[in-house]
Amino acid sequence: MAEEDINVCLTNYKSFFRNDIMRDKVAFVTGGGSGIGFTITETLMRHGCKTVIASRKLDRLRESARKLEAATGQECLAVKMDARNPQDVLAAVDQALSHYGRIDILVNSAAGNFICPASSMSFNAFKTVIEIDTIGTFNVSKAVFDTYLKDHGGVIINISATLPYKGSLFQLHASAAKAAIDSMTKTLCNEWGQYGIRVVGIAPGPIADTEGMRKLAGSLSRAAAARAIPVGRLGTKRDVADLTLYMASDVAGFISGDTIVVDGGSWMTSPNSLESAKMQLKSVL
Ligand code: NAP
Ligand code: COA
Repeated sequence: MAEEDINVCLTNYKSFFRNDIMRDKVAFVTGGGSGIGFTITETLMRHGCKTVIASRKLDRLRESARKLEAATGQECLAVKMDARNPQDVLAAVDQALSHYGRIDILVNSAAGNFICPASSMSFNAFKTVIEIDTIGTFNVSKAVFDTYLKDHGGVIINISATLPYKGSLFQLHASAAKAAIDSMTKTLCNEWGQYGIRVVGIAPGPIADTEGMRKLAGSLSRAAAARAIPVGRLGTKRDVADLTLYMASDVAGFISGDTIVVDGGSWMTSPNSLESAKMQLKSVL
């Protein structure tokens, strides 16, 4: 059976915000062709923003850009780039600036993850995830800073995770990568505030209908996952996208350096013992 397309636009969308709050802005969203990055891009576009979505798979990016433009009436440019490669990143940012002339908002959503015990993780597996998440976030932030943000100000939003808060089992690589990203959020806030740049992080909990959940939830059913979360449900891509919109807007003008958790309280209550993780992840270990 063909896999269900999870990269679909929101239906019956009613905003909590004025629909022109992002008018005349341009956002560059890494990983914007799928999952959480896709819905973040859509939400920004629904509020007047023009966007660039950038990652490795150009065919999927183009298809996503087509869907996003059709649903929102705004423009979306698909750009191929591997976040690990500075030359690729510089070329992608250059393409975006040649097209729109500005980048006001950078959302670093590109990431890689898989379940793997540290004992069987290869040197290259650890390096790969650190390179995509942490080094990728630095590469794109630095490229957009050098070419635009330094002279015009703007907002950088790093999509993180709650994994590092309690040493999540079997995700040593992603946990370390996101901890480093949270640290960068603070340092770049301190160093780049003088240029009119805010740097914030967003740490989602378990978000339904994403590649992340597909790869990481193991045998845990949706209902069981929801029961373990204080608010009693999984997160939605829109939960993360609405917070991103808020953070990108001037309403959040006094927020910088912090990473805001959007997880319904999940990280505090989700089980994290070796036994529970082995049971839940038996099928992927
Ligand atoms: P996803 O759809 O797989 O998003 C990851 C994106 O990263 C893809 O669009 C992928 O596109 C891009 N990417 C991967 N490697 C790349 C590279 N080397 N260079 C450029 N782009 C690259 O997964 P998701 O679950 O929505 O995750 C999105 C973000 O939310 C991630 O930062 C993730 O850590 C975070 N998060 C997710 C959850 C969750 O429950 N899903 C929870 C906490 C945090 P290409 O394949 O085209 O490169
Ligand atoms: N378990 C253990 N090791 C794994 C693995 C798994 N499930 N998947 C990949 N690896 C290892 C590979 O074996 C390789 O190591 P090796 O050279 O020592 O054998 C290393 O990781 C790199 O894998 P490769 O497939 O070459 O990397 P890639 O750059 O093509 O892809 C990934 C990066 C592995 C992160 C891939 O899953 C990806 O593209 N992910 C993006 C989407 C995603 O993860 N979304 C969820 C975000 S939360």
